Amino acid sequence: MGVGISRHRLTGAVAAAGGMGTLAAQGLGGTSTLASRTARERDDPHGVDVLRTEVRAARDLAGDRGLVAVNVMVAITHYGDLVRSAVEGGAQAIVSGAGLPLDLPGLVGDADVALVPIVSSPRALFLICRHWQHFHGGRLPDAVVVEGPLAGGHLGFKREEIDAPESRLEALLPRVVEEARRWGDFPVIAAGGIWDHGDARRMLDLGAGAVQLGTRFVVTEECDADPYYKSLYLGLREQDITLVRTPVGLWARVVRTPLIERFERGEYPGFKCHYQCLATCVAHQVRYCIADHLLDAARGDPEGFFFVGANGHRCREILPVAELMRRLASGPG
Ligand SMILES: Cc1cc2nc3c(=O)[nH]c(=O)nc-3n(C[C@H](O)[C@H](O)[C@H](O)COP(=O)(O)O)c2cc1C
Repeated sequence: MGVGISRHRLTGAVAAAGGMGTLAAQGLGGTSTLASRTARERDDPHGVDVLRTEVRAARDLAGDRGLVAVNVMVAITHYGDLVRSAVEGGAQAIVSGAGLPLDLPGLVGDADVALVPIVSSPRALFLICRHWQHFHGGRLPDAVVVEGPLAGGHLGFKREEIDAPESRLEALLPRVVEEARRWGDFPVIAAGGIWDHGDARRMLDLGAGAVQLGTRFVVTEECDADPYYKSLYLGLREQDITLVRTPVGLWARVVRTPLIERFERGEYPGFKCHYQCLATCVAHQVRYCIADHLLDAARGDPEGFFFVGANGHRCREILPVAELMRRLASGPG
């Protein structure tokens, strides 16, 4: 979870508890004000070097348990550099979405690292597998994440698809499982709105090999977000969670803060692009800088941009990662 929500502490804790912890590569270099940048941030504004260090720190925390993965969004300008840096740091998997990761196998070469695309349709998986087979020596994904419309952050759906019955994870998952079976025997990881052991069990019964959760891991002791981020989650009501269109060109699920309310009224602050962090972002056409607002949120500024899943209003307590993992694997709650 980016920006700065899932760094080495959360990633390492999830891996140490036997899961696959995922460290977000985006935005590790930044701070939202040019004036407060340190020399390190000026030298490495996209966090390529920081990422290497973060992955090593997560691997140290994990020991020989679980897996340390790195998420790199395809839409990020320094995508290739970040993927290579993650591999150098010892990432055991690269998880990649927000676009089709068509070039990913070429970027990792012969490195011993699992490749895990994120999709929101069987069609996207088909396109990735076909491209990789043709252009990357028959390589196939080692697993695929299928993310439904209840997820937090950016969604791979058009606005009208988000509430459509056929987009529901329960409807989407079997179709993606069927597409995966056509190509090989790699597991499908279900994500988006999974809350407890019962939800996870249902996904496994529908053919998933594993589940991925985001929102519940924000309210863990080890989550790298500022304490304000976690306390904001604990007070959420259903009506505090909404959708916005972002400069990535996708819809995203966020907390409705005063900043988002101003966006809803069409009031946007002026801004200057410091990063060109998104390959697709045309700074003078978009109306706000998503990187700045995500960095603000990670630092605990109430004016930030807080991603959250549709079940965010159910967060009521902060748990240690090991306890959350234990409950998800076996128990109630
Ligand atoms: C705070 C937050 C940040 C996220 N950041 C990213 C990200 O940087 N890249 C990504 O692929 N998914 C991101 N996601 C999506 C999660 O990885 C996950 O798939 C999704 O939230 C699962 O749904 P859930 O939150 O209902 O468990 C984010 C989600 C949250 C809540």
